[in-house]
Amino acid sequence: MNIRPIQQQINAIAVSEGAGVTVHRTLGTSALKNLDPFLMLDHFGSDDPDEYIAGFPDHPHRGFVTLTYMLDGHMEHRDSMGNRGDLRAGGAQWMKAASGVIHSEMPQQSNGLMRGFQLWINLPAREKMSDPAYQEFGPEAIPEVVDAGVRVRVLAGEYLANENVANEYAGQGATTRGVIDDPHTDLRYLDVRLEPATVFSQPLDAALRGFVYVYAGNALAGRQALPQHSFSVLGAGDAVQLVAGPAGARFILVAGRPIGEAVVQYGPFVMNSRDEIEQAMRDYRDGTLVRAKATV
Ligand code: FE2
Repeated sequence: MNIRPIQQQINAIAVSEGAGVTVHRTLGTSALKNLDPFLMLDHFGSDDPDEYIAGFPDHPHRGFVTLTYMLDGHMEHRDSMGNRGDLRAGGAQWMKAASGVIHSEMPQQSNGLMRGFQLWINLPAREKMSDPAYQEFGPEAIPEVVDAGVRVRVLAGEYLANENVANEYAGQGATTRGVIDDPHTDLRYLDVRLEPATVFSQPLDAALRGFVYVYAGNALAGRQALPQHSFSVLGAGDAVQLVAGPAGARFILVAGRPIGEAVVQYGPFVMNSRDEIEQAMRDYRDGTLVRAKATV
């Protein structure tokens, strides 16, 4: 087992998105523009309605996938495919914008905590102008493995119980599979909660690029501290090992297969060339961004 070191670490900056929602952005800033196949990670988290109530009114996307994971709160999603989705605490939504989607994401609460993540995952060139698609999972649909000191929600890919994490549910060495199918990147997405000083250990295919984002508490990777709101790029190796700090740790571990193509981004459009970006801007202006309305 070759444990991956932390190759780079960036701390979140607060940015205003949508109609004035404050988000913590790490990936997708000047510190790290992208981490193939990932383009952006926003962590929204606030108990102040002024910071989220305006939501994300109608806006376009083309050329990639958005994956939204709600930790707390309730948002309603509507899109040009005709989907109406309820994003509830513990639920997830995978939306392949591909050739073009216009959608809104609006809070369905006027007080209380709103917390979650939006990850942008790139698409290979051959998929960028394909038809949009949509998967939505309520909290009960996402497998959860609970054991002494560890709770893992398996959104995508596999979670493998091992000698450090005896899995009472599935038995030693058993595998739990997530529900989100991201066919282009072999996505792995785990939401992990560790009790204080608990060790988390997982194999992670050396061909996948990955990161850890700590959203509560803190952790250590070897001697490297992973404080709250830090985004840590995993270096070369075939395993991940973290130890929770004295207050425990909550983090997401995300990995995917790099696409290895040029990335040209302009706001909500991510293509392979400037010409394709200019086409997307023309299409949006002319009202022809949305080519397919059918839900796949
Ligand atoms: Fe969006």
